[in-house]
Amino acid sequence: MNPSPIVNFGVIGANPQLRAHFVFNNFPRDKAALLAVCDRDPVMRKRFQETYPEFSNVRIYSDYRDLVQDPDLQAVFIVVRDSFHEEIAVAALEAGKAVYLEKPMAITIEGCDRILETAFRTGAKLMVGHNMRYMDFVLKMKEIIDSGIIGEIQCVWCRHFVGYGSCYFRHWCAERENCTGLLLQKGAHDIDIIHWLAGGYTQRVTAMGRLSVYNRTGNRLQPGELPDRKISFTPEAWPPLELKGLNPHIDVEDHSMLLMQLDNGVQASYEQCMYAPDSERNYTFIGTRGRIENVGDYNGKCEIHVWTQRGSRQEPDIVYHVKSRTGTHGGSDPQILNSFFDFLREGTPPSVSPVAARNAVAAGFLGHYSMRNGNVPATVPPLRPELIQYFENGQASY
Ligand SMILES: NC(=O)c1ccc[n+]([C@@H]2O[C@H](COP(=O)([O-])OP(=O)(O)OC[C@H]3O[C@@H](n4cnc5c(N)ncnc54)[C@H](O)[C@@H]3O)[C@@H](O)[C@H]2O)c1
Repeated sequence: MNPSPIVNFGVIGANPQLRAHFVFNNFPRDKAALLAVCDRDPVMRKRFQETYPEFSNVRIYSDYRDLVQDPDLQAVFIVVRDSFHEEIAVAALEAGKAVYLEKPMAITIEGCDRILETAFRTGAKLMVGHNMRYMDFVLKMKEIIDSGIIGEIQCVWCRHFVGYGSCYFRHWCAERENCTGLLLQKGAHDIDIIHWLAGGYTQRVTAMGRLSVYNRTGNRLQPGELPDRKISFTPEAWPPLELKGLNPHIDVEDHSMLLMQLDNGVQASYEQCMYAPDSERNYTFIGTRGRIENVGDYNGKCEIHVWTQRGSRQEPDIVYHVKSRTGTHGGSDPQILNSFFDFLREGTPPSVSPVAARNAVAAGFLGHYSMRNGNVPATVPPLRPELIQYFENGQASY
């Protein structure tokens, strides 16, 4: 049998200090070759060239429309702010390129559905970058739930403490027009994990959220001044009301709470606080025979506690120690890249389907709608059955 060919790919959004670095640093050299990058900002194009002399032969584009038409590319990574995902993904799929699209898939449900329809019609492969699906603590929790030891899942809670949350109020995420809001922007990860582990998709939501802390900060960024994102990850970024250098305009919530009813009867909640002093994604899944909870996540030490009998919270029946892996985002970034290229080369579908990515956006989007409209309940619009079948079948023709 011939070995699978190397996949030639391009990256849209080339800033090596931002998200795209995960591709440049981690893509599997035995499966893929970087042939082109695009950035609309000349400073970022130059920064890419200076940072990666090993990619000196890579073609440089300033307009994504030119990159997606490059006949030598089989695949395109879209690693730009969320409000451009729909437009660029549709253009790349129309050009017949396989697409790796960063999460969240888009900033509206209609945007997601347009991407899905385009991928379905063109047959170009699509994967959305839900790297949390490759995190060891998530995989361990899934394995425990799937073993049946805690019975049938009925109830899920996720508390998301975002100790570095001020970062999102320094840049484009601070504005609704770029991301809809952070319940969708960050929460899409967690909503997807809730769906995956609980075995269903959200049908109905209601939510509350407020902006009550970062809107009260002073000394904002001046026009043209670049945000210092890194400072939000240091101990100096405290206390929240004294932070400087945030985005001049902020209109997204800094804490929010989403209630979800899933199509399999499970009920779930997701709470996000962007000014917490510490950081953790803390999930608990409660079934008819027990409960699991992660203590710690992909950032450092993590344990999974399992209760299978009555007893105190301090004395779980089983404790799993999840070892930390090297690589960004708990080692999930190198894993997800391998998964994308295996999908293209071998046809192995990744665990996250574009339908799952769309349904995570749907719950987050409607959560924002609910919290901005008197907490009204909202129902996720269904997808066409043909689309569901196509994507759940691993995007093979049927
Ligand atoms: N999966 C994860 O763990 C994870 C982590 C961080 C960010 N992200 C996602 O990665 C994406 C990128 O985030 P970011 O903060 O790096 O984005 P960003 O928009 O700040 O910038 C990325 C680069 O893209 C360029 N760019 C922006 N719009 C462009 C356009 N229309 N055409 C060409 N170039 C353009 C910018 O100049 C910049 O160099 C977002 O969708 C974000 O949600 C995912």
